Amino acid sequence: MNLSESNMQHVPNPTPLTTTQPIKSKFRFYSLSLLVLFVAISLGVFTTTNYFKVHYFKYSLTLSQSFFQSIGSLISPQKSELFVSPHCVLWMAPFLSGGGYSSEGWSYILALHNRHNKKMHPFRLAIEHHGDQESLDFWVGLPQDMKSLARDLYQTKCRMNETIVVCHSEPGAWYPPLFDTFPCPPSVYHNFKSVIGRTMFETDRVNAEHVERCNRMDYVWVPTEFHVSTFVESGVDPSKVVKIVQPIDVKFFDPDKYKPLDLASRAKLVLGSSIVNKSFVFLSIFKWEYRKGWDVLLRSYLKEFSKDDKVALYLLTNPYHTDRDFGNKILDFLENSDLREPVNGWAAVYVIDTHIAQSEFPSVYKAADAFVLPTRGEGWGRPIVEAMSMSLPVITTNWSGPTEYLTEDNSYPLPVDRMSEVMEGPFKGHLWAEPCEYKLQVLMRQVINNFTVAKAKGRKARKDMVTKFSPEIVADIVMDHLQNILVQ
Ligand SMILES: *[C@@H]1O[C@H](CO)[C@@H](O)[C@H](O)[C@H]1NC(C)=O
Ligand SMILES: *[C@@H]1O[C@H](CO)[C@@H](O)[C@H](O)[C@H]1NC(C)=O
Ligand SMILES: *[C@@H]1O[C@H](CO)[C@@H](O)[C@H](O)[C@H]1NC(C)=O
Ligand SMILES: *[C@@H]1O[C@H](CO)[C@@H](O)[C@H](O)[C@H]1NC(C)=O
Repeated sequence: MNLSESNMQHVPNPTPLTTTQPIKSKFRFYSLSLLVLFVAISLGVFTTTNYFKVHYFKYSLTLSQSFFQSIGSLISPQKSELFVSPHCVLWMAPFLSGGGYSSEGWSYILALHNRHNKKMHPFRLAIEHHGDQESLDFWVGLPQDMKSLARDLYQTKCRMNETIVVCHSEPGAWYPPLFDTFPCPPSVYHNFKSVIGRTMFETDRVNAEHVERCNRMDYVWVPTEFHVSTFVESGVDPSKVVKIVQPIDVKFFDPDKYKPLDLASRAKLVLGSSIVNKSFVFLSIFKWEYRKGWDVLLRSYLKEFSKDDKVALYLLTNPYHTDRDFGNKILDFLENSDLREPVNGWAAVYVIDTHIAQSEFPSVYKAADAFVLPTRGEGWGRPIVEAMSMSLPVITTNWSGPTEYLTEDNSYPLPVDRMSEVMEGPFKGHLWAEPCEYKLQVLMRQVINNFTVAKAKGRKARKDMVTKFSPEIVADIVMDHLQNILVQ
């Protein structure tokens, strides 16, 4: 990094709340201040003051607030507390990014915070944004209470030697980060009481660089038994690996609270014709990447169904290193496949590629009859558990993360044909699962033919989510581990 003295002098005071600068220049200042922060860290500024109060997140919040003019809550004094613990848990995750780690990070801090209100706490909770780029769309779409919680927790001041840091991101983001992100922990590992890495992978192993980074941590929290074994088999110190399952907000994803969203009004029809009368709706939610098995889904669905079946498949997707032209990607895929249009015409396929706010997701699930995702590998499978919490019958691959919660009673676990080699990307050469295409056809048909059974599975799915993965239950698990560290 090449940062000149003059640059540093031009960095504004980090309280531009009352300025009326245009957004553009705020962005510029923000990236400058980030550079300065990196320098400050490498110079060890934090260790001499023994306090770390980083500005990255505050800047993000400030910027986003300008869209809301809700500046008041940032400057209002903190609630006074009867007992102030010297201990802190600093949770660092891509809170402002959206995506898997982001929503998982949110679910933990919401769970811990709500528990906070009930019982006296042995620590204070602090958060920082880390690990991925911010998305203003995502921040804007968050419910208001989450925004104000973020602002509150962001202001917690902590002493490094009394802080447990949770680095909730892919190991490449951990100190020293391999890409441009605020490092976690914010300075060298031994300055903190304890440093925990929370991560997961979607393949059958962990690569050597990541193993080394995991072993630098005091603990590595993984979500499932699948990960406990893949991490340990890959060389992560078994005494450091702890299973901490992922919470699902069963109060937010509660089917009784929502009306269905009119999916057709948000979707583009890619194949088949729109059916005026109510059709059976399969929903799938995923980033457009090969791992998610969209090819398997399309083949099975289009082989099994035709227009006469009155079914619709909605793909809610967004780009993953691709453009948004999903309609043409699907048509190209068809052209290069052995699929032939049935005499009565294709079954309907819709794509929803516009931004759906987090607050609208429950009504998206509510509009579906079943959820389907023939994935090749998942860390946890957040859309899957969201669908389950919304009482939807779910068909998804019985491999990797989802094996932690899928049963014959609460879902349709999709068998695996064989393992196959990952052909590109950072996990090239690892193995993941090829779900059985034919069995997917059979299961989709079965859901329609025997919807009574499917609905019973959906109800059991919600029940399992509530009893095993609700925020209260997972917060207790997390609290136990943190408390054990604090008394050490
Ligand atoms: C942390 O550091 C402060 C100041 O250096 C010191 O007063 C305090 O006792 C330390 N706390 C722990 C738990 O070591
Ligand atoms: C839709 O349903 C109505 C009443 O059930 C029926 O009269 C009509 O023919 C149906 N239309 C189509 C296109 O299937
Ligand atoms: C799912 O996988 C587990 C092992 O990972 C196995 O015990 C179980 O029988 C499988 N279920 C189905 C329906 O294939
Ligand atoms: C649905 O499944 C149940 C339980 O397997 C079975 O008893 C019932 O006959 C099935 N109904 C149909 C229409 O296949």
